[in-house]
Amino acid sequence: MENGTGLAELYPPLNGSDWLMLNKEQLPSVMRYGIEGDLMVNGIKYTIPMSGIPELSAVEISNITNYILSAWTNKLGGMSFEEVQESLSNSDGNK
Ligand code: HEM
Repeated sequence: MENGTGLAELYPPLNGSDWLMLNKEQLPSVMRYGIEGDLMVNGIKYTIPMSGIPELSAVEISNITNYILSAWTNKLGGMSFEEVQESLSNSDGNK
């Protein structure tokens, strides 16, 4: 949602997410390839898979990643373009 909250037990939040705090290097890869399997975020289990968005370029993904990491109340630092490319080369953690 606009302020980084998710939607009930369907979409996990991106603001104040303990999962994102621990797995921030996976964020670019989630945008490109999606993610499936049980996800625990702030004590709630999310089970619906997210589809990847293959039409986003690496630069767009880098911009969105760096926006999310410091949007709302997030203070999760930044990610270099090299780190974003590294994440995009690996989708092993998304299943
Ligand atoms: C840690 C990061 C993320 C996780 C764990 C995650 C997970 C999910 C999940 C579980 C859904 C629900 C799928 C469904 O109901 O069909 C979803 C939907 C979606 N996510 Fe993500 N997501 C993440 C980040 C993002 C980001 C950064 C974007 C934007 C580029 C994004 C774009 C979408 C879109 C477009 C949908 C579909 C919404 C719809 O169909 O109404 N997600 N995500």
